[in-house]
Formats: sequence, structure tokens, C-alpha cells
Amino acid sequence: MPITTCIFDAYGTLFDVAAAARIAASEPAFPQLVDTWPTVAEHWRLKQLQYTWLRAITGAHTDFWQVTQDGLDWSLEHNGLGDDPALRKRLLALYWELQAYPEVPAMLHTLKGAGLNTAILSNGSPDMLNGAVQSAGIGDVLDDCLSVESVGIFKPDARVYDLVGQRFDCARDEVLFVSSNGWDAAGATGYGFTTAWVNRAGEPMDRLPWTPAHVLSDLTSIPELATA
Ligand code: LAC
Repeated sequence: MPITTCIFDAYGTLFDVAAAARIAASEPAFPQLVDTWPTVAEHWRLKQLQYTWLRAITGAHTDFWQVTQDGLDWSLEHNGLGDDPALRKRLLALYWELQAYPEVPAMLHTLKGAGLNTAILSNGSPDMLNGAVQSAGIGDVLDDCLSVESVGIFKPDARVYDLVGQRFDCARDEVLFVSSNGWDAAGATGYGFTTAWVNRAGEPMDRLPWTPAHVLSDLTSIPELATA
């Protein structure tokens, strides 16, 4: 089936999650981040994601803003920055206005110009996603922002991927699902979407039962893939 619908993961895929720590590190108020920011960002992201999986398998759902704060608190304490409320507050504020990767606006414009449906499907809560979309200025090239909050469980639960067919009335193989998270691209492959894993950092393939159809280094070739 030809692709009719392009669905994007948000954090790490459209929005650069390391930007919060990187930007704070460049500000005079936070010299303590100059050397530590890459590690702080990495631990923050890792714990945030672990908490989504653990909450999903134990049935203890909370929203993504809570696990984002919990992951940051673990990371700051682990990096010896646990007693720094001003730093915590600044990093959390920056998370609401993450930068989009540079190729994102043109890529989405091209997809819309080709008549494809475009949307985000994210663990993010609706207000967080709205903040990021507004600050990146890409609201006019997205048909929708689908949040796991409408089903109350995190990815890769199939009920999350079901939201796409419910919204766009399309078959699974009409969907090109794009994620920088290897486990999300794998989960969506198992679900039956055509998938693209955006592997900016050149990471090894996740050892899971499903392999994404495409592996890309950034998002520039998405329109070509979707209309091939
Ligand atoms: C999301 C996380 C997984 O946006 O990056 O759903």
C-alpha cells in the first residue's frame, strides 16, 4: 500500500532533547554544567524512558511531565547537582521550548505539499507537546498531535499505536512511522507500520524481535521515502 500518513515521535526525533542541558550550560548562571551537561542530559533521558517502561508494565501510569521531572532529579543527584533548585527549574523550563532539528520545518512542508497526513505520536502530555510545537513553529504543517494521555499508557503499548488508525482511518501499512528511539521504531515495526529509525548518533541496532524498514541519519529523506 502507498504511504498516506507520516507519523513522528516527538522527543529526540523532531525535538532535540539534549538542547535543554546544552543551552543551560551556555548560560553564565550555570557554570556547574559546562563539563557535565552531556552526562546530565544522557542520564536524564535514560531515566525518563526507563520510568515510562516501568510504569507501563506495572500499570502505574503517570504523565510524561512527571517522569521527565523524576528522570531529571535522578540525573542531577547522580551527577552531584541534586541540591540546586535554580538549575532544576531552568532545565525544566527549557524542556518546554526545545529546538526542532534544523531540517524539520522544510521536511514537514514537503510532506504536506505532497498531500500526506502528518502528525506527532508521543509519550508527551498534550500541553508539553503544544509548547514544543509552538516554540518550533511547526503547528501549521502538522494535522494533529496525538498523545498517549488519551489511552493512559506509554509506548510501545499497541493501544498507543492504535491512535493513528483511529485518527486517520488508515491501514497500518499506509503509515510511515518515524522515530529516533530504536525501541519505538522496533515496537512500531512489530505493530505493522512501515518504519524509519533516525539514528543520528550511529548507535547499534536494538536487539529486539523487529527491525525497522529504514535506517536514516537525519530526517531529510523522509519525503522521498514516503512518496517512493
Ligand atoms: C516520545 C518519546 C518516546 O516523544 O520520545 O514519545
